[in-house]
Amino acid sequence: MFETLQAAPPDAILGLTDAFKKDPNPAKINLGVGVYQNSQGTTPILECVRQAEDRLLTTESTKSYLPIDGLPDYAGHVQELLFGEDAAIVTDGRTATLHTPGGTGALRVAADFVAQSFPSAKIWCSQPTWANHPNVFSAASLAQEAYPYFDADANSLDFEAMLRGLAEIPSGQVVLLHACCHNPSGIDPSPDQWSQIGEVVADRGLLPLVDFAYQGFGDGLREDTRGMVELCRTGTDMLICSSFSKNFGLYRERVGALTIVARNDDAARISLSQAKRCVRANYSNPPAHGASIVSTVLSDPVLRAIWEKEVTEMRTRIHSMRELFVETMKAKSPQRDFSFITRQRGMFSFSGLTREQVDRLREKFSIYIVGSGRINVAGMTERTMDRLCAAIASVL
Ligand code: LMR
Repeated sequence: MFETLQAAPPDAILGLTDAFKKDPNPAKINLGVGVYQNSQGTTPILECVRQAEDRLLTTESTKSYLPIDGLPDYAGHVQELLFGEDAAIVTDGRTATLHTPGGTGALRVAADFVAQSFPSAKIWCSQPTWANHPNVFSAASLAQEAYPYFDADANSLDFEAMLRGLAEIPSGQVVLLHACCHNPSGIDPSPDQWSQIGEVVADRGLLPLVDFAYQGFGDGLREDTRGMVELCRTGTDMLICSSFSKNFGLYRERVGALTIVARNDDAARISLSQAKRCVRANYSNPPAHGASIVSTVLSDPVLRAIWEKEVTEMRTRIHSMRELFVETMKAKSPQRDFSFITRQRGMFSFSGLTREQVDRLREKFSIYIVGSGRINVAGMTERTMDRLCAAIASVL
């Protein structure tokens, strides 16, 4: 049977990492996958994570199964990060959280839950969106549509078109929104624009599915919840997919969460029971280690303070890389204005490089960028900036 199969194409993002690893050029640069690098060009284990793991090594007493919805204390910590301490939405019982394997796992559970509970609902994604969203949603058999988002000429959000697009989505359908640090463009709505989005979503009776993979990488841990808070203000049902890959540097531990927000505690409880069916039929129950680290850090004031400082350091460093990139490009290629990159947030930017330029960068300079022209700014370092910008200038 297997001889009849055709090879699948490499993954648009992780496939690049495979190619990068095989490249023998010692000066190669990987700006494909969204992984943070420090000034030494490494992706460190955070200090708060190291200390939490030390504690877990001595305190963990079993490797028995977790419940279907995961580590019990973890849900409370995730909700506190999303909504703040003692938030009414939580104390009223309107929220339920499942611990999932990564943010991608959360998206898949959310998609399965929608497909199972509302079989005629389509999902609407921003144009563009994360290259893996369509894969996850089609694996769950969700029909997909797109709404406008990015104005390529102005390198900005096309807010009028976005709002018009959202207003045309039929009631009862799902709209995917990026909470902050839009992947791949790095362009987010302003707080005022978020409140208008919230109104349209509520007026149309849409279900927002909020992808929240970069909390703390935009403007701050609390500041980055602004968009989601605006959506909550309307009292709408909502699904929120959190990831702790980036802000805890726990990429390979696969730790994330799906939070269901319902209109009342009964609806939250019933929805959770349905989402648990999806989990049981998929991976049964989640792996414990990553979530145990997150819970340990968030429940200890000392570790939490270290974590918040480390998130601030990563965010500040990414921003300083944006500035250095723009400055260096200005020197290498004064005719091309890249200043829009400093106005963007999070790990990614749409560079405006064409597919052909991206291919030349890889073939000639061993510089790996996603085919869409998305650059992982968080992978830039002071040491590689000059070579990177000189190579980009030469292909422009
Ligand atoms: C990315 O967009 O590069 C990250 O979210 C990693 C991934 O899994 O694609």
